[in-house]
Amino acid sequence: MIGDGHKGKLVDLRSDTVTRPSEGMRRAMAAAELGDDVFGDDPTVNRLQAYAAELLGFEQALLFPSGTQSNLAALMSHCGRGDEYLVGQDAHTYRFEAGGGAVLGSIQPQPIANRPDGTMDLADVEAAIKPDDPHFARTRLLALENTIGGKAVPRSYIENALQLAKKKGLSTHLDGARIFNAAVKLGVPAKELCRGFDSVSVCLSKGLGAPAGTLLLGKADFIAKALRARKMLGGAMRQAGVLAAAGLYALEHNIERLAEDHANAERLAKGLRDAGYAVEGPHTNMVFVKVPPGFADHLVNNEVLVLAGPRLRLVTHLDAGAAAVDRALAAARSFAGKPA
Ligand SMILES: Cc1ncc(COP(=O)(O)O)c(C=O)c1O
Repeated sequence: MIGDGHKGKLVDLRSDTVTRPSEGMRRAMAAAELGDDVFGDDPTVNRLQAYAAELLGFEQALLFPSGTQSNLAALMSHCGRGDEYLVGQDAHTYRFEAGGGAVLGSIQPQPIANRPDGTMDLADVEAAIKPDDPHFARTRLLALENTIGGKAVPRSYIENALQLAKKKGLSTHLDGARIFNAAVKLGVPAKELCRGFDSVSVCLSKGLGAPAGTLLLGKADFIAKALRARKMLGGAMRQAGVLAAAGLYALEHNIERLAEDHANAERLAKGLRDAGYAVEGPHTNMVFVKVPPGFADHLVNNEVLVLAGPRLRLVTHLDAGAAAVDRALAAARSFAGKPA
């Protein structure tokens, strides 16, 4: 554990969730006009929700404290007890959200293998759809993720997946926690990548740099269901405009600049490769690297925070820019016995 004495000197590549609100964002939060969002009268929350709905092409948006809760509320709004959703084996919703759909929604997940590019083979998806038969759970929903493991999923694939879902009468949800990374990488508006989904969940607290907050988007009747689920899950907040102001600031200032994070990840990947490491990616702002034992400890001892493991994920972000990449590369080179 790194103590507080290190604050400010550390390079933190564990995730893009570690960013601290910038001065401008803090000013916007301090100046936010507030109300009680449970009564629907926090003007800053309402402004954020309207702004996001317009930006991403949906009737309505709803602010949640976290992406996990937004995804769960979406599952619970699309599916009921004994229903099933189809989801990638590597998808956050399935793998990293404590099985919430099953635990709290009585919704059965049907995981499907993800291919190396993050997509699922649509033939596998189709084969997993259960017939209407009392032996089976009712297959109701197809859930995708973009980016997934940092990989941007192109519109052409989404189109085919949505077509299949439509043909089979399934609803569709997109975990677009990092949809703006995908949009910037693919050079298309995020709206384009969201088009056709029944619901999309978009995080403000990852590459966009807000301290918390996720928006769930959909049609008005879907959002009405999600509002009830949010209440049930304990996610209805009061003067949430403080967070909404950060979210608005993030959407207004921090989307295009994601290209910088991607460029920094490129340089990090190249530097690690040049130093002899087996590198995968970068995929948008994420670099994956196979490392020998002791590597993570060496970086941490050099004040570069990473999550230990044989396949490290290094993530660039607002608070880990070009200088952070230099520091990480210097530490990686010294571990490999190369000149700094
Ligand atoms: C793809 C994806 N979806 C959802 C989440 C959940 O977001 P939160 O940590 O806000 O619950 C994460 C978190 O890292 C994520 O990476």
